[in-house]
Amino acid sequence: MTRTAPRMLILDTDPGVDDALAMLYLRAHPGLKLAAITTVFGNADVDTTTRNALYLRQRLALDVPVHQGAAAPLARHRGPSPAHVHGQNALGDIDLGDFVSPGPDPRPAFEAIADLVLAHPGEVTLVAIGPLTNLALALRAAPKIAGLVAEVVIMGGAFGSQGRSGNVTPFAEANIHNDPEAAAEVFAASWPITLAPLDATMSCVLTNAQARDLAEQGGDAGRFAHAVSRGYAAAYARHEGLDGCVLHDVAALSWLTRPELFEVRNAPVAIATSGPRTGQTRIAPEGHARRLCLGADGAAMTRDYLDVLRARP
Ligand code: BDR
Ligand code: CA
Repeated sequence: MTRTAPRMLILDTDPGVDDALAMLYLRAHPGLKLAAITTVFGNADVDTTTRNALYLRQRLALDVPVHQGAAAPLARHRGPSPAHVHGQNALGDIDLGDFVSPGPDPRPAFEAIADLVLAHPGEVTLVAIGPLTNLALALRAAPKIAGLVAEVVIMGGAFGSQGRSGNVTPFAEANIHNDPEAAAEVFAASWPITLAPLDATMSCVLTNAQARDLAEQGGDAGRFAHAVSRGYAAAYARHEGLDGCVLHDVAALSWLTRPELFEVRNAPVAIATSGPRTGQTRIAPEGHARRLCLGADGAAMTRDYLDVLRARP
């Protein structure tokens, strides 16, 4: 099963190597229509993630506004950036050259999210692949967007159903851990959330051999995918013994294009906001039921990723 009608998407992102790899997929997939990019701190400070979003917009010829978003979590200090995973520049330390780009749109991310959803009731899908701060701020500014979005797809969290309960602590996944209060606000709202946690995303691996093939056969996009992911793959080799890298943020988009590849359970979610389990996601006895992707055919997701990129190099 493949969805047909293109959906209007806002990508809320902290680029980030796997965010960049997700943007390559977004650009190439005929079923996904990007309306705006909103940035947030996470894989680096927000000036860096915004600079990276502007670079990616230009490099991938994405004709959409970039709106800078939150620089820090709602209620705590920002933690250190994971330069050991994403590189000092958060794009695998590839040379970004002297790219010249118009700056970000003056409207901040949360306002752009609220305005777009209000202007297109029922049509906008929010895809959040960074900390959830901008989404929480958008909800605070315009609570009625909760009833007006088509869907909110979030890469984040971990439920341990495939043996993985966290990636930054034994209990927490990075995007939720980076702003647990924002996550709690986002999960308290009555909008339709689909969550792609580590349970599903860890299986979506781009092997080093596949990345090399992309570099050889995937045109400029393939060469870029290979170059941007070398340091990230080296981090996965060091930390996980993987011969490749994990496409977490691509998996969130795969939910929109290949939903049949996911094992889904509907259940409410609670977020821990204090103590050693801060940032933990767990299934709660009550609350709004969420669509939780607790497993996935990762090999099929990666094959689809490669097919989509090769079809539009
Ligand atoms: C998530 O955290 C970030 O480092 C990645 O870009 C991804 O969104 C994985 O836990
Ligand atoms: Ca990300």
